[in-house]
Amino acid sequence: MDLKNKEYIDKIKTLAKEKNAVIFAHYYTRPEIQECADFIGDSLALAQQATRVHANILVMCGVHFMGETMKILCPDKKVLIPDMNAGCSLADSCKAEDLKKFIINNSQFTDKKPIVVSYVNTSADVKALTDVVVTSSNAKKIVDQLPKDAKIIFGPDHNLGSYINSVTGREMILWNGACHVHSRFSLEALLQLKAENPGVEVLAHPECKAPILAQSDVIGSTKALLEHTIKSSARRFIIATESGILFEMQRACPDKEFIPVPPEVTEGIGCSCNECEYMRMNTLEKLYNCLLNESPEMQVEKETAAKAISSIQRMLEMS
Ligand code: 13P
Ligand code: SF4
Repeated sequence: MDLKNKEYIDKIKTLAKEKNAVIFAHYYTRPEIQECADFIGDSLALAQQATRVHANILVMCGVHFMGETMKILCPDKKVLIPDMNAGCSLADSCKAEDLKKFIINNSQFTDKKPIVVSYVNTSADVKALTDVVVTSSNAKKIVDQLPKDAKIIFGPDHNLGSYINSVTGREMILWNGACHVHSRFSLEALLQLKAENPGVEVLAHPECKAPILAQSDVIGSTKALLEHTIKSSARRFIIATESGILFEMQRACPDKEFIPVPPEVTEGIGCSCNECEYMRMNTLEKLYNCLLNESPEMQVEKETAAKAISSIQRMLEMS
Protein backbone atom coordinates (compact mmCIF):
# COMPACT_ATOMS: atom_id res chain seq x y z
CA MET A 1 0.00 0.00 0.00
CA ASP A 2 1.37 3.41 -0.92
CA LEU A 3 -0.71 6.03 0.84
CA LYS A 4 0.08 9.68 1.37
CA ASN A 5 0.51 10.90 4.94
CA LYS A 6 -2.91 12.56 5.13
CA GLU A 7 -4.67 9.38 3.93
CA TYR A 8 -2.69 7.28 6.40
CA ILE A 9 -3.50 9.62 9.28
CA ASP A 10 -7.25 9.50 8.45
CA LYS A 11 -7.20 5.70 8.13
CA ILE A 12 -5.26 5.28 11.38
CA LYS A 13 -7.66 7.54 13.27
CA THR A 14 -10.72 5.70 11.89
CA LEU A 15 -9.23 2.30 12.68
CA ALA A 16 -8.28 3.38 16.19
CA LYS A 17 -11.87 4.53 16.79
CA GLU A 18 -13.32 1.25 15.47
CA LYS A 19 -11.03 -0.79 17.67
CA ASN A 20 -11.34 1.41 20.77
CA ALA A 21 -7.61 1.97 20.69
CA VAL A 22 -5.71 4.93 22.14
CA ILE A 23 -2.52 6.09 20.44
CA PHE A 24 0.32 7.46 22.56
CA ALA A 25 3.40 9.16 21.14
CA HIS A 26 6.60 10.52 22.60
CA TYR A 27 7.72 14.03 21.60
CA TYR A 28 10.70 12.59 19.70
CA THR A 29 8.60 10.70 17.15
CA ARG A 30 8.08 11.91 13.59
CA PRO A 31 5.67 14.86 13.21
CA GLU A 32 3.13 12.74 11.31
CA ILE A 33 3.08 10.20 14.15
CA GLN A 34 2.49 12.99 16.67
CA GLU A 35 -0.41 14.12 14.47
CA CYS A 36 -2.06 10.70 14.85
CA ALA A 37 -1.66 10.54 18.60
CA ASP A 38 -4.45 10.96 21.11
CA PHE A 39 -1.85 11.71 23.71
CA ILE A 40 1.71 13.10 23.35
CA GLY A 41 3.98 13.33 26.35
CA ASP A 42 7.27 12.80 28.11
CA SER A 43 8.07 9.46 29.72
CA LEU A 44 6.32 10.29 32.99
CA ALA A 45 3.17 11.69 31.42
CA LEU A 46 2.89 8.70 29.05
CA ALA A 47 3.10 6.25 31.97
CA GLN A 48 0.63 8.26 34.06
CA GLN A 49 -1.84 8.63 31.22
CA ALA A 50 -1.71 4.92 30.34
CA THR A 51 -3.18 4.07 33.75
CA ARG A 52 -6.06 6.52 33.24
CA VAL A 53 -7.49 5.66 29.82
CA HIS A 54 -10.38 3.29 29.19
CA ALA A 55 -9.55 1.43 26.00
CA ASN A 56 -9.05 -2.13 24.83
CA ILE A 57 -5.84 -1.38 22.97
CA LEU A 58 -2.97 0.98 23.81
CA VAL A 59 -0.53 1.75 21.01
CA MET A 60 2.82 3.13 22.18
CA CYS A 61 4.70 5.04 19.50
CA GLY A 62 8.04 5.48 21.16
CA VAL A 63 10.71 2.98 22.08
CA HIS A 64 10.66 -0.53 23.52
CA PHE A 65 11.04 0.38 27.22
CA MET A 66 8.03 2.72 26.94
CA GLY A 67 5.86 -0.12 25.64
CA GLU A 68 7.18 -2.40 28.36
CA THR A 69 6.42 0.14 31.09
CA MET A 70 2.92 0.54 29.67
CA LYS A 71 2.32 -3.22 29.64
CA ILE A 72 3.59 -3.59 33.22
CA LEU A 73 1.23 -0.82 34.35
CA CYS A 74 -1.72 -2.11 32.30
CA PRO A 75 -1.34 -5.93 32.22
CA ASP A 76 -4.95 -6.52 31.15
CA LYS A 77 -4.74 -4.29 28.09
CA LYS A 78 -3.37 -5.17 24.68
CA VAL A 79 -0.27 -3.00 24.28
CA LEU A 80 0.99 -2.61 20.72
CA ILE A 81 4.23 -1.06 19.52
CA PRO A 82 4.72 -0.32 15.80
CA ASP A 83 8.31 -1.65 15.71
CA MET A 84 9.72 -4.03 18.31
CA ASN A 85 13.24 -3.11 17.16
CA ALA A 86 12.84 0.47 18.35
CA GLY A 87 15.31 0.18 21.21
CA CYS A 88 17.26 2.75 23.21
CA SER A 89 21.04 3.06 23.45
CA LEU A 90 20.73 4.25 27.04
CA ALA A 91 18.60 1.28 28.13
CA ASP A 92 21.04 -1.00 26.28
CA SER A 93 23.96 0.45 28.24
CA CYS A 94 22.74 -1.29 31.40
CA LYS A 95 22.17 -5.06 31.33
CA ALA A 96 20.40 -6.56 34.34
CA GLU A 97 23.17 -9.09 35.04
CA ASP A 98 25.78 -6.31 35.09
CA LEU A 99 23.65 -4.12 37.34
CA LYS A 100 23.23 -7.08 39.72
CA LYS A 101 27.05 -7.33 40.04
CA PHE A 102 27.35 -3.55 40.46
CA ILE A 103 24.81 -3.63 43.32
CA ILE A 104 26.67 -6.52 45.00
CA ASN A 105 30.04 -4.76 44.63
CA ASN A 106 28.64 -1.60 46.14
CA SER A 107 26.99 -3.47 49.02
CA GLN A 108 30.25 -4.97 50.27
CA PHE A 109 32.01 -3.66 53.39
CA THR A 110 28.96 -1.67 54.44
CA ASP A 111 25.93 -2.44 56.58
CA LYS A 112 23.87 0.03 54.54
CA LYS A 113 21.86 -1.65 51.79
CA PRO A 114 21.96 0.71 48.80
CA ILE A 115 18.74 2.13 47.39
CA VAL A 116 18.68 1.44 43.65
CA VAL A 117 17.22 4.32 41.62
CA SER A 118 16.81 3.65 37.89
CA TYR A 119 15.92 5.98 35.10
CA VAL A 120 12.81 4.85 33.23
CA ASN A 121 15.01 4.27 30.14
CA THR A 122 15.77 0.71 31.28
CA SER A 123 14.53 -2.80 30.53
CA ALA A 124 11.88 -4.50 32.68
CA ASP A 125 14.67 -6.78 34.02
CA VAL A 126 16.56 -3.74 35.31
CA LYS A 127 13.37 -2.26 36.79
CA ALA A 128 12.86 -5.58 38.60
CA LEU A 129 16.19 -4.95 40.44
CA THR A 130 15.22 -1.35 41.20
CA ASP A 131 13.73 0.24 44.32
CA VAL A 132 12.35 3.31 42.59
CA VAL A 133 12.17 4.36 38.95
CA VAL A 134 12.54 8.02 37.98
CA THR A 135 12.14 10.07 34.82
CA SER A 136 13.82 13.35 33.98
CA SER A 137 10.61 15.09 35.17
CA ASN A 138 10.66 13.74 38.69
CA ALA A 139 14.23 12.56 39.43
CA LYS A 140 15.10 15.53 41.68
CA LYS A 141 11.78 15.37 43.53
CA ILE A 142 12.14 11.63 44.19
CA VAL A 143 15.83 11.69 45.18
CA ASP A 144 15.05 14.57 47.57
CA GLN A 145 12.53 12.30 49.34
CA LEU A 146 15.06 9.51 50.00
CA PRO A 147 16.66 9.36 53.49
CA LYS A 148 19.49 11.88 53.77
CA ASP A 149 22.00 9.24 54.87
CA ALA A 150 20.98 6.68 52.21
CA LYS A 151 23.56 5.10 49.97
CA ILE A 152 22.06 5.46 46.49
CA ILE A 153 22.95 3.71 43.26
CA PHE A 154 21.71 5.62 40.20
CA GLY A 155 21.68 4.35 36.63
CA PRO A 156 22.04 4.13 33.80
CA ASP A 157 22.45 7.73 32.62
CA HIS A 158 25.69 9.21 33.98
CA ASN A 159 24.91 12.72 32.72
CA LEU A 160 21.48 12.80 34.37
CA GLY A 161 22.92 11.25 37.55
CA SER A 162 25.67 13.88 37.77
CA TYR A 163 23.13 16.63 37.19
CA ILE A 164 20.83 15.24 39.93
CA ASN A 165 23.82 14.97 42.29
CA SER A 166 24.60 18.63 41.60
CA VAL A 167 21.05 19.87 42.29
CA THR A 168 20.35 17.65 45.32
CA GLY A 169 23.78 17.75 46.95
CA ARG A 170 23.79 13.92 47.02
CA GLU A 171 26.72 11.73 46.11
CA MET A 172 24.87 8.93 44.36
CA ILE A 173 27.01 6.13 42.94
CA LEU A 174 26.59 6.43 39.18
CA TRP A 175 26.34 3.82 36.46
CA ASN A 176 28.36 4.85 33.42
CA GLY A 177 25.69 4.81 30.69
CA ALA A 178 24.64 7.41 28.14
CA CYS A 179 22.24 8.19 25.31
CA HIS A 180 24.12 8.40 22.01
CA VAL A 181 21.93 11.29 20.78
CA HIS A 182 22.30 13.51 23.84
CA SER A 183 26.01 12.74 24.25
CA ARG A 184 26.92 13.99 20.83
CA PHE A 185 25.78 17.62 20.92
CA SER A 186 28.65 19.87 19.95
CA LEU A 187 29.79 22.33 22.62
CA GLU A 188 31.67 24.28 19.97
CA ALA A 189 28.52 24.66 17.86
CA LEU A 190 26.49 25.66 20.92
CA LEU A 191 29.03 28.36 21.84
CA GLN A 192 28.96 29.63 18.28
CA LEU A 193 25.13 29.72 18.26
CA LYS A 194 25.17 31.64 21.55
CA ALA A 195 27.68 34.14 20.13
CA GLU A 196 25.57 34.59 16.98
CA ASN A 197 22.34 34.93 18.98
CA PRO A 198 23.19 36.95 22.08
CA GLY A 199 20.62 36.78 24.89
CA VAL A 200 18.74 33.82 23.39
CA GLU A 201 17.80 31.22 26.02
CA VAL A 202 19.38 27.77 25.82
CA LEU A 203 17.12 24.83 26.76
CA ALA A 204 18.69 21.41 27.36
CA HIS A 205 17.66 17.90 28.36
CA PRO A 206 19.56 16.59 31.41
CA GLU A 207 20.86 13.62 29.38
CA CYS A 208 23.28 16.09 27.72
CA LYS A 209 26.89 16.23 28.91
CA ALA A 210 27.84 18.60 31.75
CA PRO A 211 29.57 21.24 29.52
CA ILE A 212 26.35 21.58 27.48
CA LEU A 213 24.26 21.82 30.66
CA ALA A 214 26.67 24.43 32.05
CA GLN A 215 25.86 26.65 29.04
CA SER A 216 22.06 26.18 29.44
CA ASP A 217 19.47 28.44 31.03
CA VAL A 218 16.74 25.81 31.44
CA ILE A 219 17.35 22.09 32.05
CA GLY A 220 14.39 19.72 32.04
CA SER A 221 12.41 16.87 30.56
CA THR A 222 10.91 17.21 27.10
CA LYS A 223 7.60 18.31 28.66
CA ALA A 224 9.30 20.84 30.94
CA LEU A 225 11.21 22.35 28.01
CA LEU A 226 8.06 22.53 25.90
CA GLU A 227 6.12 24.19 28.73
CA HIS A 228 8.91 26.71 29.20
CA THR A 229 8.77 27.76 25.55
CA ILE A 230 5.00 28.27 25.88
CA LYS A 231 5.08 30.40 29.02
CA SER A 232 8.30 32.33 28.34
CA SER A 233 8.03 35.84 26.90
CA ALA A 234 11.20 35.14 24.86
CA ARG A 235 10.73 34.71 21.11
CA ARG A 236 13.81 32.63 20.22
CA PHE A 237 15.35 29.55 21.84
CA ILE A 238 18.38 27.33 21.29
CA ILE A 239 17.38 23.70 21.85
CA ALA A 240 19.73 20.90 22.97
CA THR A 241 17.65 17.74 22.79
CA GLU A 242 16.33 15.37 20.13
CA SER A 243 14.87 17.49 17.34
CA GLY A 244 11.44 15.78 17.28
CA ILE A 245 10.39 18.09 20.12
CA LEU A 246 10.67 21.06 17.74
CA PHE A 247 7.46 19.94 16.03
CA GLU A 248 5.40 20.30 19.20
CA MET A 249 7.22 23.52 20.19
CA GLN A 250 6.51 25.07 16.80
CA ARG A 251 2.89 23.85 16.87
CA ALA A 252 2.37 25.36 20.34
CA CYS A 253 4.26 28.59 19.53
CA PRO A 254 3.94 29.30 15.79
CA ASP A 255 5.40 32.79 16.14
CA LYS A 256 8.55 31.71 18.04
CA GLU A 257 11.84 30.46 16.62
CA PHE A 258 13.68 27.32 17.70
CA ILE A 259 17.32 26.75 16.83
CA PRO A 260 18.54 23.15 17.24
CA VAL A 261 22.09 22.49 18.46
CA PRO A 262 23.85 20.24 15.94
CA PRO A 263 25.81 17.12 16.93
CA GLU A 264 29.58 16.82 16.85
CA VAL A 265 30.92 15.57 13.54
CA THR A 266 33.73 13.10 14.14
CA GLU A 267 36.30 12.43 11.44
CA GLY A 268 34.04 14.02 8.87
CA ILE A 269 31.52 11.17 8.98
CA GLY A 270 29.61 11.94 12.15
CA CYS A 271 25.83 11.93 12.06
CA SER A 272 24.70 15.28 10.74
CA CYS A 273 21.39 15.17 12.60
CA ASN A 274 20.23 15.11 16.18
CA GLU A 275 17.51 12.54 15.66
CA CYS A 276 16.99 9.32 17.58
CA GLU A 277 16.86 6.64 14.90
CA TYR A 278 14.92 4.36 17.26
CA MET A 279 12.12 6.89 17.73
CA ARG A 280 12.08 7.42 13.94
CA MET A 281 11.36 3.71 13.41
CA ASN A 282 7.74 4.58 14.17
CA THR A 283 6.32 5.25 10.72
CA LEU A 284 2.72 5.74 9.59
CA GLU A 285 2.81 2.48 7.64
CA LYS A 286 3.99 0.50 10.65
CA LEU A 287 1.47 2.22 12.92
CA TYR A 288 -1.34 1.44 10.50
CA ASN A 289 -0.31 -2.22 10.10
CA CYS A 290 0.16 -2.65 13.81
CA LEU A 291 -3.37 -1.41 14.49
CA LEU A 292 -4.82 -3.47 11.63
CA ASN A 293 -3.10 -6.73 12.63
CA GLU A 294 -2.97 -5.98 16.37
CA SER A 295 0.67 -6.93 16.21
CA PRO A 296 3.45 -6.70 17.32
CA GLU A 297 2.09 -6.99 20.83
CA MET A 298 4.23 -6.19 23.85
CA GLN A 299 4.57 -8.99 26.38
CA VAL A 300 6.46 -8.88 29.65
CA GLU A 301 7.24 -12.09 31.47
CA LYS A 302 4.88 -12.35 34.51
CA GLU A 303 7.59 -12.83 37.15
CA THR A 304 9.63 -9.88 35.85
CA ALA A 305 6.54 -7.67 35.61
CA ALA A 306 5.52 -8.55 39.18
CA LYS A 307 8.96 -7.41 40.43
CA ALA A 308 9.20 -4.35 38.18
CA ILE A 309 5.78 -2.94 38.98
CA SER A 310 6.62 -1.94 42.55
CA SER A 311 9.50 0.32 41.45
CA ILE A 312 7.28 1.98 38.83
CA GLN A 313 4.35 2.36 41.23
CA ARG A 314 6.69 3.83 43.86
CA MET A 315 7.69 6.42 41.27
CA LEU A 316 4.06 7.31 40.53
CA GLU A 317 3.34 7.68 44.25
CA MET A 318 6.38 9.89 44.84
CA SER A 319 5.91 12.09 41.76
P1 13P B 1 11.64 12.57 28.59
O1 13P B 1 11.13 11.77 29.74
O2 13P B 1 12.19 13.89 29.01
O3 13P B 1 10.60 12.70 27.55
O4 13P B 1 12.90 11.82 27.95
C1 13P B 1 12.81 10.56 27.36
C2 13P B 1 13.97 10.22 26.56
O5 13P B 1 14.10 9.17 26.00
C3 13P B 1 15.02 11.21 26.48
O6 13P B 1 15.98 10.81 25.60
FE1 SF4 C 1 16.99 6.38 24.16
FE2 SF4 C 1 18.42 8.51 23.54
FE3 SF4 C 1 16.56 7.68 21.86
FE4 SF4 C 1 15.87 8.80 24.23
S1 SF4 C 1 16.91 9.79 22.52
S2 SF4 C 1 15.01 6.95 23.32
S3 SF4 C 1 17.51 8.04 25.55
S4 SF4 C 1 18.41 6.54 22.43
